[in-house]
Amino acid sequence: MPSSSDAAMATFIRGLPKAELHIHLEGTLEPEMVFALAARHGVGLRYPSVDALRRAYAFHDLQSFLDVYYAGADVLRDEDDFRSMTAGYLRRAHADGVVHAEIFFDPQMHTRRGVAFETVIRGIGSALAAAQAEFGITTRLILCFLRHLPAADAMRTLEEALPYRDAICAVGLDSSEMGNPPSRFAEVFRRARDEGWLAVAHAGEEGPPEYIREALDMLHVARIDHGVRCEADDALCRRLAAEGVPLTVCPLSNVKLGVFARLQDHNLKRLLDRGLRITINSDDPAYFGGYIAENFSATQRALGLTRGDVVQLARNSIAASFLPESAKLAWLARIDAYAAAH
Ligand code: HPA
Ligand code: ZN
Repeated sequence: MPSSSDAAMATFIRGLPKAELHIHLEGTLEPEMVFALAARHGVGLRYPSVDALRRAYAFHDLQSFLDVYYAGADVLRDEDDFRSMTAGYLRRAHADGVVHAEIFFDPQMHTRRGVAFETVIRGIGSALAAAQAEFGITTRLILCFLRHLPAADAMRTLEEALPYRDAICAVGLDSSEMGNPPSRFAEVFRRARDEGWLAVAHAGEEGPPEYIREALDMLHVARIDHGVRCEADDALCRRLAAEGVPLTVCPLSNVKLGVFARLQDHNLKRLLDRGLRITINSDDPAYFGGYIAENFSATQRALGLTRGDVVQLARNSIAASFLPESAKLAWLARIDAYAAAH
């Protein structure tokens, strides 16, 4: 039963300026929008109602989620669909105190269905510009490659993205982790970095610590997405702390996909206390039951995070972002001023 101090902490969290660094745009597609877009395009759905669809969001591991996630995105057909989905996320993020978002998108999910890369990026881009004008929220786009597909497919996608080079900040790696190690994508990531993009990768969500090392040493990533399985390897944890490698942790996602049985069992607090640069993020909030403020609040309650921990997590999110140094300093000062005033 949440107490009144829980409510005060939740209010504090919502108002705290923060960056979101691990958010899949296609994972923000709410069941209501799935139904609205399906009706607009005359697409039949396997579920009779929004509630029935939401009830189908019961997963036991990453693959059981991905199967539903890929099916849900089938209703995204035209530029306006991508604009609406993106606008919906940014409205919710702004309400949760997000001042800057670095957003993943999965172009292969769409180009494989015959939706043009240009349709995807133009729809997303128009919503990003509108949200910056309306809320002042800043954003970056991260193009993710689907690791269950061949590296040659990723390379073709990279080439399709080149005309939109300036709209994209970094490349990432997502989808089914086990059996799809980062090393398979070394050549694609080398090309991406040669083209001037930064790099991140999902590693150590379900996969072993070795995948985290490969992402660092072979893909030269600036951050590890998830990374929670680093704890099985002491030397790796020491390295991550010493090098200040950020981990974009997604607590509610980890529980929904069985990485931890309960939120109380999550290792986020232990990793934070070991000096790792941990951030809190929502991953696929339409599927996992909470946007970023709910991830902060639920984790704070489950692990007994202090107010100092919460502020540190917000500071880490800014420090780990791809914002220019001057903007980072300005936001860190705003976070400190907010914490002092509340
Ligand atoms: N892991 C891997 N791929 C994904 C995820 C995730 O948590 N969410 C969307 N694609
Ligand atoms: Zn993810």
